[in-house]
Amino acid sequence: MEKLIVHGGQRLTGSVQISGSKNSALPILAATLLTAERCTIRRVPDLSDTNYMLRILGELGADFERASGVATISATDIHPDAPYDLVRKMRASICVLGPLTGRLKKARVSLPGGCVIGDRPVDLHLRGLEALGAKITVDGGDILVDASEKGLTGARINLMGKHGSTVLGTDNVMMAATLARGTTIIDGAAAEPEVKDLADFLIAMGARIEGAGTNRITIEGVEELHGVDHTVIPDRIEAGTFLAAGAMLGDRVTLNRVQPAHLQVVLDELQKCGFPLEIGTESITISANPDARGFDLTTQTYPGFPTDMQAQFCALACAVRDASSLTETIFPQRFMHIAEMKRMGADMDLQGATARVRGGKPLKGARVMASDLRASAALVLAGLLASGATEIHRLYHIDRGYEHIDDKLAGLGAQLERAKDI
Ligand code: UD1
Repeated sequence: MEKLIVHGGQRLTGSVQISGSKNSALPILAATLLTAERCTIRRVPDLSDTNYMLRILGELGADFERASGVATISATDIHPDAPYDLVRKMRASICVLGPLTGRLKKARVSLPGGCVIGDRPVDLHLRGLEALGAKITVDGGDILVDASEKGLTGARINLMGKHGSTVLGTDNVMMAATLARGTTIIDGAAAEPEVKDLADFLIAMGARIEGAGTNRITIEGVEELHGVDHTVIPDRIEAGTFLAAGAMLGDRVTLNRVQPAHLQVVLDELQKCGFPLEIGTESITISANPDARGFDLTTQTYPGFPTDMQAQFCALACAVRDASSLTETIFPQRFMHIAEMKRMGADMDLQGATARVRGGKPLKGARVMASDLRASAALVLAGLLASGATEIHRLYHIDRGYEHIDDKLAGLGAQLERAKDI
């Protein structure tokens, strides 16, 4: 295991290249199972999650190669049983369920376990596949999907859940429906840019999909799909994390290779607080502002404020002098970072699903524990702000979703190093 030691208090300046989106790359890699032909996926970020996904595809029978961000996959001859040992390591491996069901009309994938950001059910994924005519059973902790007798038939499905729409649920049903007979209409669909990126990939493969990026997606089933070459969109959450770093400590930090439109609500919040921003077509420059104001935000599905940015904004709230509040509506238990930041001297508390932060108090380096991906990013940000050294243990959480974050931050002037942990 490794830990990250952050020596805080350095100003950040210069530019950083944003990587391809993890949350786009994972379902797109899974979607290559829908065709026997070769697919080339570019800007696949070098992360443990994308490595797991490629290994799962390999275990399902696909051949793959990966070199400098380009993954080539040929799923010529595949079988429907996803390997438990790999699947249990990454919740997002549930997104092989849709393509296996679409292509083979059969799938066996382990039920994802609980995780530290709360109960994460898959009932909506299953409801959607059932509506397409698949029979679903749960056996020994595995989900068994079977549509081998009659195949899949298009249907009208509503995927809205009590915490809003489901991103990977929409992906799974959309992927399965591409190879169903007839028309599928998904109401309450997730409108996240990553769903749109997956739909663009599927359309290039020959799928007939309309409305991706809105809450209603219509899919006309086709007989088969083909191999394509696709480039993954920039990671808006990695970009948002570097924007938070720039707002906290930046003397002109420039993000390159971003899609500013995907970050609109984050940029609006930063602008309202008073952080100076320069927005180009594929770049954003931000600087800190000692007079920045606090903020009150609530996480929502896209285009609302992303739950995946809530933890990093908790760290940002420590850097502004006012009080701020952050309410979580998507994963109400996603606040593991609060207790750790309090150990660094942050003045914050949790009331229900709302974090209240009284900013402007000095943070002091401490030993802290990463609990999940975005919480660990927040601890890195808090460490950059704090005086002295912050040791972040269980670094593997951050390597799941941030490509070379230590090198990228060091390139901006941060002082941090990896070290062996016991
Ligand atoms: C995806 C993202 C994750 C992000 C989340 C919300 C990937 C790989 N992961 O996760 O980074 O935090 O979207 O933007 O893209 N729910 C149900 N039943 C279901 C499915 C979900 O009740 O069958 C609930 C969840 O518990 C949660 C809400 O719906 O409260 C949204 O979850 P969902 O959009 O499905 O998250 P993921 O797709 O797993």
